[in-house]
Amino acid sequence: MPETIRTECFDETPTRVVSGRGALAGSRACLAGMGISRVLIVCGENVAQLPQVAEFAACCEGCIDVAIFSGAEPDPTDGNVRDGGAVGREFGAQAVMGIGGGSSMDCAKGIAAEIGAEGWIATQDRPGEPTQIDHEVPPIVCVPTTAGTGSEVNPFSVITFTETKRKLVLNHEALYPRCAVLDPGMLTSAPKMVRVAAGLDALTHAIESYVSTRATEATRRRAAEAIRGVAQFLPRAAADAEDMPALAGMQRAAMIAGLSFAHTRLGIVHAMALPLSALFGVPHGVANAILLPHGMRFNLEADPAAFAEIAELLGAQVEGLSAAEAAALAPEAVELLAAEVGAPTTMGAVGVEASAIERMADDAMKSAHVQVNPRAMSREDVIAVYRGAM
Ligand SMILES: [Fe+2]
Repeated sequence: MPETIRTECFDETPTRVVSGRGALAGSRACLAGMGISRVLIVCGENVAQLPQVAEFAACCEGCIDVAIFSGAEPDPTDGNVRDGGAVGREFGAQAVMGIGGGSSMDCAKGIAAEIGAEGWIATQDRPGEPTQIDHEVPPIVCVPTTAGTGSEVNPFSVITFTETKRKLVLNHEALYPRCAVLDPGMLTSAPKMVRVAAGLDALTHAIESYVSTRATEATRRRAAEAIRGVAQFLPRAAADAEDMPALAGMQRAAMIAGLSFAHTRLGIVHAMALPLSALFGVPHGVANAILLPHGMRFNLEADPAAFAEIAELLGAQVEGLSAAEAAALAPEAVELLAAEVGAPTTMGAVGVEASAIERMADDAMKSAHVQVNPRAMSREDVIAVYRGAM
């Protein structure tokens, strides 16, 4: 029996979300409906080998010409964007389809903007200044192969500028994907630790968004749905790469968390996770997984009622407890979930050296997420949280 493909629109994003098993093949009609006859796929080398990508190209034959740029690196660089832009212009791409994890989707957004104006990416290495796009950007379609980043529904693109060694978040409404394709069949190739790390990244997005100083009733509703979804589906999705309902549940939770944090930003955990990746190459989701319960414990006193709600969303028994008692169960519930799915729990276990903590604290304090953290945080606080996670 053919599976149902669902198309949804959300208030928070102009991105149309198409979901269901087989949605990637079905997106051909979506592209044709936009009048697209030439599409550039942007991905990494592994994804380029997936049979689903070949099947998509085959089903486009005679209707849409497909070219593949497989040079999107794990932390995409300005060079990747420039190269992909050149390929796209030469091919005459009318749309760009990013297939992969956050890196490939972010790279695809940059490439789409670069196709519209040759040399654009070189002008965007300007920390602290808004991303500038004054030209037409071809439509972007995102097809996530991990359930974590939420990049498929937001206008962010994290690009590393090689010469200055700066990792910047580009953010412009022209970078919103026109369409996000959530096909759980695209998640089956990710190894277990990638599924776990991506899932705990999504949980971190949802929890940090829930308690952000910018949270609203609407963003909390989304974040709550995402927290519930991760708690329900991550253990199954981690244990079995063929459990389609669980993979689809995780894909949805990650996307919904993306809707929420695009408006609230994140907090102490993401601020502190970035230096772990930059200095020690710890994958983003793993860094978040390790730091999340520690960051939550630091934040508890700022909003015990919100953390009590998070504890309940994660399945903790909070009946009859005071707000403070229930709140304390939230980081415990995260630790239980992380243990159940086999995530690393200390920075030492992933090669972080204690001697780097002061330097990492300096870098963490520069993050824009610091400003929306529910509890004011100092460099000394960050050092203490890092020490607790060693
Ligand atoms: Fe993240």
